[in-house]
Amino acid sequence: MRSQSNLLFKLWLKDPLKIGAITPSSRQLAEAMARLVPPEATGPVVELGGGTGVVTRALLGAGVSADRLIVVERDPTLHGLLRDRYSDVTVVLGDAATLVETLRPHGIDRASAVVSSLPILSMRKSVRRAIVEQSFALLEPEAPFIQFTYGLFSPLSRRELGLTGQVKGRVLNNLPPASVWLYHRHGTFDMASAGHPA
Ligand SMILES: C[S@@+](CC[C@H](N)C(=O)[O-])C[C@H]1O[C@@H](n2cnc3c(N)ncnc32)[C@H](O)[C@@H]1O
Repeated sequence: MRSQSNLLFKLWLKDPLKIGAITPSSRQLAEAMARLVPPEATGPVVELGGGTGVVTRALLGAGVSADRLIVVERDPTLHGLLRDRYSDVTVVLGDAATLVETLRPHGIDRASAVVSSLPILSMRKSVRRAIVEQSFALLEPEAPFIQFTYGLFSPLSRRELGLTGQVKGRVLNNLPPASVWLYHRHGTFDMASAGHPA
C-alpha cells in the first residue's frame, strides 16, 4: 500500500495536474463510488483513471465481475501496474477524452455505468466536456456517470452539460475529504449538437 502511495506521489510530482492526487483514494471513498453502480445492471462497467487500482478493487468487491470491468488509464506506469494486478480485467492504456475510439478495438460500445476518478476539476473545460460526451455516448439510457471530487460543489456543470446530478455521499475518511456525485443525462440533451473539444 505504501509503495502504491509512493508511486502515485512520484508521478504527481512529475505532472500534478494530470495525476490529480498525491495519495490513492481511501477504501471508504472507493466503496462509496462502487455502491452507486446499479446492482441490477449486467452490461460493461467502465472505470476512468484507474490509478493504483483502489476503485477497481472496490468495484470487484461490490459484485462487478472481472469480465464486465474495463479500466482506462492514461499513464503507462499505472497502466502496467493495473494490468499486472488485475490480469482478468480489461485494462486499457488510453485517454478518457477519446473514450469511444479507445474502447472500440476492445469491442466495447456500451456501458451500464462509468465510474470516474479523473482529476476533473484540474482539466480544461473542453476536455471535461469531451469526457462527459464520450461517456454518455456509451452509457445506456438511465445509466449513471459517477465522479468524486474534493470540491464543495458539483465538479460538472449540470446546466452546460445537460445533466442531472446529486451528491450521494461525503467521505471524511479520505485525504482530503471527498464527495461522490451521481449524474444522469438530461432527457432533452442532444449530444450531437453539444459541440466537441477544442
Ligand atoms: C486522482 S488519480 C485516481 C486514482 C485512483 N482511481 C484512486 O482513486 O486512487 C487520477 C488518475 O486518472 C488518470 N488520468 C488523468 N487523466 C486521464 C485521462 N484523460 N484519461 C485516462 N486517465 C486519466 C491519472 O493518470 C491518475 O491515475
